[in-house]
Amino acid sequence: MQAAIAVYPGSFDPFTNGHLDIVSRSLPFFERIVVGVVWNPSKQPLFSAEERVKMIQEVCQPFGDRVVVESFTGLLVDFVETRGARIVLRGLRAVSDYEYEGQMALTNRHLRPAIETFFLMAREEVSYISSSVVRQVAMLGGDVSKLVPSIVVDRLHQRFS
Ligand code: PNS
Repeated sequence: MQAAIAVYPGSFDPFTNGHLDIVSRSLPFFERIVVGVVWNPSKQPLFSAEERVKMIQEVCQPFGDRVVVESFTGLLVDFVETRGARIVLRGLRAVSDYEYEGQMALTNRHLRPAIETFFLMAREEVSYISSSVVRQVAMLGGDVSKLVPSIVVDRLHQRFS
């Protein structure tokens, strides 16, 4: 049986080729993926939640309506539930991700035992990419064109020009 909906949550500040890899490789296994962009009022992101949602919508346009992008605030498990989902998707790049990801998955399971976290191993070619490295390279004028989708490259240029 194909699971209906999976939620792929994150800060996505900005959305990278690593994130895109997770969305595109997960999509064949679900009817729909909801990309959940966290909006944390106490954090000062590079791009607002609205800007991130818009950017990801543009990047994911080729997937059609099977990829939905929304922002959320509060607990992830509440967002997952309101979207009628039971699966949280997360990408794993290296062993160093394990501790943080494990802590989140176990906390979410503690909060909602019915919700499971599925991990997908990043492709080697994108496994070194992180949003924080992208932000730093872009801020210092480096080339990020192989790290993020072209739409995001444009927005980073606008932000730092
Ligand atoms: O891309 P990130 O920053 O690693 O994503 C982290 C995210 C958004 C998945 C996580 O911070 C989250 O789920 N935030 C919502 C608040 C929440 O539910 N916290 C309890 C679980 S750790």
